[in-house]
Amino acid sequence: METKNRMNFKKKILCIGAGYVGGPSMAMIAFKCPDYRVTVVDVNSERIDAWNSPQLPFYEPGLEDIIKKRRGKNLFFSTDIENQIRENDIIFVCVNTPTKNYGAGAHMAADLQYWEKTARQILKHSRSSKIVIEKCTLPVKTALAMEKILSSSRGKIKFEVLSNPEFMAEGSAINDLENPDRVLIGSHETKSGLKARTELTEIYQRWIPSSKIITSNIWSSELSKLVANAFLAQRVSSINSISALCEKTDADISEVARAVGTDDRIGRKFLNAGIGFGGSCFKKDILNLVYLCRHYGLDEVAAYWESVVKINEYQQQRFIAAMLHSMFHTLAGKRICILGFAFKADTSDTRESPAIYITQKLLSEKAELVISDPRALKNAAADLSGAEGNVQFIEDPYEAARGCHALVVLTDWSLYRMLDYKKIYRSMTKPAFIFDGRNIVDREKCFAIGFNVYAIGKPALTHL
Ligand code: NAD
Ligand code: UGA
Repeated sequence: METKNRMNFKKKILCIGAGYVGGPSMAMIAFKCPDYRVTVVDVNSERIDAWNSPQLPFYEPGLEDIIKKRRGKNLFFSTDIENQIRENDIIFVCVNTPTKNYGAGAHMAADLQYWEKTARQILKHSRSSKIVIEKCTLPVKTALAMEKILSSSRGKIKFEVLSNPEFMAEGSAINDLENPDRVLIGSHETKSGLKARTELTEIYQRWIPSSKIITSNIWSSELSKLVANAFLAQRVSSINSISALCEKTDADISEVARAVGTDDRIGRKFLNAGIGFGGSCFKKDILNLVYLCRHYGLDEVAAYWESVVKINEYQQQRFIAAMLHSMFHTLAGKRICILGFAFKADTSDTRESPAIYITQKLLSEKAELVISDPRALKNAAADLSGAEGNVQFIEDPYEAARGCHALVVLTDWSLYRMLDYKKIYRSMTKPAFIFDGRNIVDREKCFAIGFNVYAIGKPALTHL
């Protein structure tokens, strides 16, 4: 019965890589195109099991609802990569492209091993021509390498490679996928390239207005993805660099951001100062851009973009230094409650979270840590598994804060705006401190309660 159903679909789409992007983006295609069959495969069987279970592999608001609606109908998760490559006509490649941590380009270039293996798998198992779509973020000109691999042996079978980078952000992935600012499709401007482009465009046109579907050549598409992330991260570093100046001059970074951002040419978004950007992509994509610039001999351009990452690191170092300074130059034996470990609100993802660096530094100062987060405690425990020192994980923020000397807000969960800080204050060791690394706590109110309050880019409010 299932085999029959499987054959009746209008289009058969495969995604290789069932991660943070592959899962949600394919779920959205399946949701919007019930007459298309969408299969997502991965080498990681645990991940596939999770996709097929009630407990999805990560938390993303709204995702569970869509998965429940389409899974088993036109959305399938499988580890059978070989057969799925054979059966499908359109293949999205959405494997991880982390920063290389070995050999040439170590700590800068993108590690293309997963992507290359995938290209070879597609070549090996294909029995008919296919459209292969780069959805993962790749260095400009990667499609050329993919084409070279795909055209290396089979004469009759043709592969058309497209670039279709993903712009969704975690925590808002479902809304971003459903109402994107744009969808970008890069193709060759040949007859077959344009045909493949049309085929992919038709998928997105099911729910996205044509005016939002941008087309370009492949190289522009690949590069635009890196540049979009670099520009976003640059905004965060720009406002964070100014937050340091605010702290020296009694200016308030939120007021500065509002005054600057109301200029339409600048815009209001992405001007929240904090402990710096985290997540699996900003740093890796900028480093990749820096590496590419150096490769092409553009050292000044490389240095410009590298400074975005340096300011991000500086911001975290500044935060730790301010904590040490305000808590009388010693954290040894002090109990510190970390509010939030995810790299941003509304996700369980902790990849490259500023919390990892900050908690490790606090542990090296011999502080005792109690880590609280509504969704990310499992990942936090894995991230800190090798760290030496005293760490506890307690989800309930009131329990976590009990007996602590300081609260340190590292993730902008809205929950932390609404805590009963009076109740928390009563249970803490005095003098009690708040270090708000996300500028979400009501400073005046907490100061009035009795806390010594330190925020980013704002004058400290202290009773000491
Ligand atoms: P991820 O690590 O969550 O998922 C990648 C998956 O690919 C993993 O589950 C891995 O097991 C699988 N995989 C690797 N090699 C494979 C192979 N040969 N065959 C089958 N499966 C294989 O990564 P992610 O966060 O989903 O990111 C994927 C890509 O999308 C990256 O290039 C990233 O830069 C880009 N991107 C990510 C986001 C995001 O919000 N996470 C947003 C836009 C773009
Ligand atoms: C980012 C981009 O926003 C997506 O468009 C892109 O597709 C994705 O990277 C990717 O390629 O992986 P994401 O990293 O999921 O998405 O989340 P963002 O909302 O961009 O936040 C990134 C980091 O910047 C977070 O740590 C966040 O707290 C921080 N940030 C963001 C600030 O510190 N201040 C801000 O004003 C905005």
